[in-house]
Amino acid sequence: MSRSLAFVLLGIFTAHQVFGAGSPKGVHIAFAGVNSITISFYTTLDTGEDNLPWASIADKNFTGSTTKSKSRYHHDVIVSDLEPGEVYEYITGVGSASSEPFTFHMIDNKSTKFKTAFVGDMGVNNSQATIDLLTKNRDQYAWVHHVGDVSYADDFDVKIEPSSGDGYDDVYDLFQDELEKLAASTPYMVSPENHDVTCRVTSDLGCPEQQRNFSAFRERWRMPSIESGSSTVEHHNVWYSYRIGNAHFVSIDTESDFPNAPTKPSTKIGGGAGGGFGDQLGWLKNDLKEANEDESVDFIVAMGHRVFYSSSITDWPLLAVKHVKEAFEPIFHEYNVDLYVCGHKHFYERGKPSFEDKEAEGGTTQIINGAGGCNEGVQGEGKGKAHHLIAKGNYESTGYGELEVDGKEMTWRYILSESGSVDDEIVIKSRR
Ligand SMILES: *[C@@H]1O[C@H](CO)[C@@H](O)[C@H](O)[C@H]1NC(C)=O
Ligand SMILES: *[C@@H]1O[C@H](CO)[C@@H](O)[C@H](O)[C@H]1NC(C)=O
Ligand SMILES: *[C@@H]1O[C@H](CO)[C@@H](O)[C@H](O)[C@H]1NC(C)=O
Ligand SMILES: *[C@@H]1O[C@H](CO)[C@@H](O)[C@H](O)[C@H]1NC(C)=O
Repeated sequence: MSRSLAFVLLGIFTAHQVFGAGSPKGVHIAFAGVNSITISFYTTLDTGEDNLPWASIADKNFTGSTTKSKSRYHHDVIVSDLEPGEVYEYITGVGSASSEPFTFHMIDNKSTKFKTAFVGDMGVNNSQATIDLLTKNRDQYAWVHHVGDVSYADDFDVKIEPSSGDGYDDVYDLFQDELEKLAASTPYMVSPENHDVTCRVTSDLGCPEQQRNFSAFRERWRMPSIESGSSTVEHHNVWYSYRIGNAHFVSIDTESDFPNAPTKPSTKIGGGAGGGFGDQLGWLKNDLKEANEDESVDFIVAMGHRVFYSSSITDWPLLAVKHVKEAFEPIFHEYNVDLYVCGHKHFYERGKPSFEDKEAEGGTTQIINGAGGCNEGVQGEGKGKAHHLIAKGNYESTGYGELEVDGKEMTWRYILSESGSVDDEIVIKSRR
C-alpha cells in the first residue's frame, strides 16, 4: 500500500472511531513470522464473548482472540500476508470500540541493511527521556527489543509514578500506554526477567494467580514462540527467535528453566515460584545450530536479561551470575553468537569478546544495556573482578543501544537519552 492510499484510508477510519468504554489501550505490535505481525492491546472492561477483537488494515479485516487476566482483557490480532517494505495504516478494536489510526512499516525480510534499537530496565519512572527519544526516532528503527525488566509493575507499592493508580495492573497499564506511540508503529519485542515473575520482586506472598509465574508478561505481550518453534502454546513468550535478513535474533529466559535458575517452582523469597515452560536449553541449541549452519546468516545476536560479566557482582540469588553464565555462555560460544545484549545492571557496560572469564578471539561480545530508566535509578560502577573484560562503561546517564546491520558489517552505538548523542560505537565484522 502506498502512502497516498494510506491517507485515503485514514479518512475512512476516522469516521469509525468510537472511544470510551472498552476502547483499546496500550496498542502494540510484534513480529509473528514471515511477513506477519501481531497487533495487541488491552481493555479494562468486559467487551463480551460475542465481540472479537479485530484489525482493519489495507482493505482487509482480521479477527483475533481475547484472554482475561485479573481485571484486564488482553486482545491479539495476527495479520499475515503483508507486503515486505510497505507502509500500512491500521485501526484496531473490539466490538464497536476502535483505536485511532496507526502506521507501521512492514520490514522487508530479505533486507541486509536495517537498524534496530535495544532498551533495558525501563518502567514508568525516570524513563521519559528514553521513551521520548525512541518515539521520535521510531521511523529509523525496524523494531525495538526490550531486554527485560519491562514495566516494574511489581514495585507498585514502593513509590511508583502516582498517575498510574496504585495496583500492579495500573502500573503495567501506564507503562503500555506511555509506550503506545512507539510500540503501535514499531514491533516491540520483550525478554523476561526478575521484575516480571510475580506481583512483588521480594516474594509472591499474597499475589493473585494471574500475577504469578510470568503471567502478566505472557498475557500482555505476544512474542513469536509458536512461529519460531519454541513452543506450541500461545503466549509462551519466554524464549523465541526471529530472523531478519542476514541476522538471527534469539531471546532467552535468564530467570527460569535451566540448571540452578533464579526462579524455580520451589522458589519462596526473591520473586516467588515460577518456571516449567519446557526445555529451553535443548531448543536454544537447535535454534542456534541451525542459524550457525545457515549460509545466509552473517550475524547471530542474543538478547536476555541477566549478565555474564559485570563490574557489579552483587546479585540475588547470590550465585545467579555464575549459574546464568554456566548455562548459556558455552552454547553461545559453540554456535558463534556475536553479540549478547542484556540488562539487569542499571548502567551501560560493553565487554570485550570473552569466554570463560578471559578475553577471547571469537568470544561473544556482551553488552549491558540496563539504563533505560526506572524507579531504581542509574547505578554506579561496581568493584567486581570483571574489570579486565570491560571496554567501555557509562554509569551516569540513561540511554539505549542502536544496532545497524549493513551486509557483512554491523555497528553498535550507545545513545544517550537526554542529548541523543552517541556515547560508544563499535563495528563488528561478520566472521562467517
Ligand atoms: C523472515 O524470514 C525467515 C525465513 O523465511 C522467517 O523464518 C522469519 O520468521 C521471517 N521474519 C519475519 C519478521 O518476518
Ligand atoms: C471491515 O470492517 C468494517 C467495520 O466493521 C466494515 O465496515 C468493512 O466493510 C469491512 N471490510 C471488509 C473488506 O470486510
Ligand atoms: C516515581 O515517579 C513519581 C512521579 O514523578 C515520584 O513521585 C516517585 O517518587 C518516583 N519514584 C522513584 C522511586 O523515583
Ligand atoms: C508456570 O506456568 C507453566 C506453563 O503454564 C506451568 O507449566 C508451570 O507449572 C507453572 N509453574 C508454576 C510454579 O506454577
